[in-house]
Amino acid sequence: MPNHFLRVEGASVSFGHDEARVHALRDVSLSFKPGTLSLVMGPSGSGKTTLLSLLGCLLSPDKGSVFVDGVAVNGLSEAERTAVRQQKISFVFQAFRLFHSLSALDNVALGLEIRDPAASRRTEVARDLLLQFGLGDKLHQEPKALSPGEKQRVAIARALAGNPPILLADEPTASLDAEAGRNICQILRSQVDEHGRTVVVVSHDPRWEKFADRIVTLCDGCVEEEVGVL
Ligand SMILES: Nc1ncnc2c1ncn2[C@@H]1O[C@H](COP(=O)(O)OP(=O)(O)OP(=O)(O)O)[C@@H](O)[C@H]1O
Ligand SMILES: [Mg+2]
Repeated sequence: MPNHFLRVEGASVSFGHDEARVHALRDVSLSFKPGTLSLVMGPSGSGKTTLLSLLGCLLSPDKGSVFVDGVAVNGLSEAERTAVRQQKISFVFQAFRLFHSLSALDNVALGLEIRDPAASRRTEVARDLLLQFGLGDKLHQEPKALSPGEKQRVAIARALAGNPPILLADEPTASLDAEAGRNICQILRSQVDEHGRTVVVVSHDPRWEKFADRIVTLCDGCVEEEVGVL
């Protein structure tokens, strides 16, 4: 099994009980190879965020398995699962989720500290990432002084601090204008091409299509279509 391979096999997830029961995912099997960008599309409520939560070891399936690098994550203890997540998986969200009273630099440095408490040169690593994303003149700004596109670049820098092999992004361009959105697509694409990361993007945004290696469409909790190379 190649490194940093992600797989869900026969995975079903439901929420609630009896009449209120919702089947968010039904018997879904998908693989995500290193060095590829997969785009997950589908209507609202089709199970995209649920799939990302499974891949990110935030949620366990009712049935089926999730594998990270060949290890069945649902067989692990909560502490072991948390360790897998910390070492291997990072998230980017539509809502940025930055720490409001911290500068861009401290947001990224703290992200690294949370992921790897023993990491040295945290400020230097954070500065390098922000420079790489064109934010050299914004290092000491708090999120409220940043544009939405800049906030998302800080959030991506924070997610990448610690060099995680797997990056999961839920609607990362939904609130961004054309230029800022394209910029985020290019940044995540370069994480695949230059660093060989496994990137999974959930989005309604058709701008992602030309940046993706394959497109998975979910409908009502099932895989409706899979197009492109795996
Ligand atoms: N924590 C939860 N409790 C109860 N139901 C949930 C929960 N999370 C998701 N669901 C339900 O599961 C289904 C799939 O939700 P999910 O959030 O995965 O959809 P989505 O494709 O991400 O939708 P959107 O495009 O609106 O973000 C929906 O019917 C949703 O209401
Ligand atoms: Mg969602």
